[in-house]
Amino acid sequence: MKKLIQALIVEAGLIALQYQSRIDTVQITEKGAKDLVTEADIAVEDHIRKKLAAATPDFGFLGEESLETLGEKSRWIVDPIDGTHSFIHGQYYWSISIALETEGEICLGAVYAPLLKDLYVAEKGKGALKNDQKIKTSDTSELAQAMVGTGFACLRANLKENNLARFCRIASRTMDQRRFGSAALDCCLVGDGQLDAFWEQQLNLYDVAAGALIAAEAGATVTDFSGRPGLNPQAVLITNGRVLAELLELM
Ligand code: IPD
Ligand code: CA
Ligand code: CA
Repeated sequence: MKKLIQALIVEAGLIALQYQSRIDTVQITEKGAKDLVTEADIAVEDHIRKKLAAATPDFGFLGEESLETLGEKSRWIVDPIDGTHSFIHGQYYWSISIALETEGEICLGAVYAPLLKDLYVAEKGKGALKNDQKIKTSDTSELAQAMVGTGFACLRANLKENNLARFCRIASRTMDQRRFGSAALDCCLVGDGQLDAFWEQQLNLYDVAAGALIAAEAGATVTDFSGRPGLNPQAVLITNGRVLAELLELM
């Protein structure tokens, strides 16, 4: 399965790049408040879905841009383009995310950033790789020295309890902050030691299923905002473990 999704995600990346190279001709629609989708998202998901259905006909499929199909024990969880807004603006920081869930547990994940040429892959219990090299979380032990990442999906829903006040609290206690624009990739950056922590609320499972496994397999903690272990897309907190306690006080 790992070889299957590694080859497929790179193939899907080439399709996405073809659309991005002519982005001015690509149809863009607003599927919700501040939430754009392009014909590239649809085409990439359709390609991935068809290939996975052919290879694993009994598996279900949960994708951001199409109706879910149920499987027996396993399902694919796919975000065809994570960071669509970055993609539309011709930026480099977007990714494709494919995860496999079996009996309720994410056991395989891949996140590919075509313009960065970075392919992150992890299998449960077998560590995490970037471009076939083992990765691990950073050694940063104090929040005051940390570089942290976040996102603002919550602003789409105009939630009262949003991330702005939390961001200000944490920004004043950290060395530096980033809002890159692809939650899937942000998770991988914690695993790769490029970020010391990442948090975001109001995400969906397909945004973080693969990225959270990759980060965890590289040694990251995956909790909710209260520190409860496990992946909660509504309140995702991924850290190198060393800054977790300080961060939890500010969440
Ligand atoms: C988005 C990205 C972004 C995050 C948004 C997500 P999409 O995914 O992951 O970083 O802040 O909440 O929706 O919509 O481009 O697939
Ligand atoms: Ca997404
Ligand atoms: Ca998406």
